[in-house]
Amino acid sequence: MQKTLIRKVHPEKPERRLISEAAQIIRRGGLVAFPTETVYGLGADALNEEAVRRVFEAKERPLSDPLIVHVPNLAMISYVAAYVPDAVYRLARRFWPGPLTVVLPRLHLLSPLVTGGADTVAIRIPAHPVALALLRAADRPLVAPSANLFGHTSPTTAEHVRADLDGRIDMILDAGPTPLGVESTVLDLTRQPPVVLRPGGITPEALQEVLGPVLIRDHTPPEGPLRSPGLLERHYAPHKPLELIIGPPESVRAHLREQMRSSPFRLGLLIAEEDLAHLADPGPHLLEVVGSLKDLAGVARNLYAALRRLDQSPAERLLARDFGGHGLGLAIRDRLRRAADRVLELG
Ligand code: TXA
Ligand code: MG
Repeated sequence: MQKTLIRKVHPEKPERRLISEAAQIIRRGGLVAFPTETVYGLGADALNEEAVRRVFEAKERPLSDPLIVHVPNLAMISYVAAYVPDAVYRLARRFWPGPLTVVLPRLHLLSPLVTGGADTVAIRIPAHPVALALLRAADRPLVAPSANLFGHTSPTTAEHVRADLDGRIDMILDAGPTPLGVESTVLDLTRQPPVVLRPGGITPEALQEVLGPVLIRDHTPPEGPLRSPGLLERHYAPHKPLELIIGPPESVRAHLREQMRSSPFRLGLLIAEEDLAHLADPGPHLLEVVGSLKDLAGVARNLYAALRRLDQSPAERLLARDFGGHGLGLAIRDRLRRAADRVLELG
């Protein structure tokens, strides 16, 4: 067990001394968790294979799951990608720095460990001042998967990182909660039309304004009701069974009310502000309000912390409402689907 340094850093004007301390650790092959505008990332030198290997070990992540490479500018993309298609420049003008990750053909010099053996590499320029300062000081591309144990909820605070990775990594730069709260949109530019592999901070609607048609990889729902119960123990996050409920507001609320009335279990409900008036008198059940249906940015920002709270609460089973399939709602639905062991679609 190693000692993990935790350093408070100013989110807008990061202290130069702290950034150079962190950059030194990276250059020596160490691991530094740092804030991005989406979630905290676990940073390591993308060009140092041993450092990259340590990232997988610290997270207990399977080697087949590829990492995102973070760069401070367009020029550095050529350290890891074979070439930069014109679409990247057009996307960069509008979305970078920001929560968009593009998948490009990889440079063959790049360690296959970074890409999970694939011949493509995922790259982004993050928008957080601390992330950019660290990337510039380290002066190299950094791999940075979300700074959580594999399968856990992504961390939106330094405390979330500490809870998962304390004693496994060298340093955590604590700049407070991350502003966006869900991970970047992953867009595969090696296919035509481009394909959204993971919905995120940049909506498909916005991408289409720049690129024309893009496909959204349709999500095959998790095994859901058919999932073998034996698999549940291995299903890390959240530790409790979670059901996602999709449907018109009235049907969703009726289902929630019925569950609250009849369930022999203590329930934890992840709901919208607008639901509260319809769910008066929760009895033994716990209500976690993540935000308004009219403010999906607020919902995204609170989502992971709310899931962690419900997981640590006395609730035995969790129910989450859906937030719609448009804009950020798509990213929120995607994350809740992955967290859920059941998805209920009401007519
Ligand atoms: O917002 C984010 O993207 C955060 C912050 C820290 O930047 N990072 C993040 O990394 O979410 P991670 O490792 O938790 O998720 C990376 C995602 C995975 O879904 C992975 O499968 C996909 O990107 N990915 C990475 N390389 C890929 C590739 N070459 N082809 C397709 N998908 C790839
Ligand atoms: Mg992750």
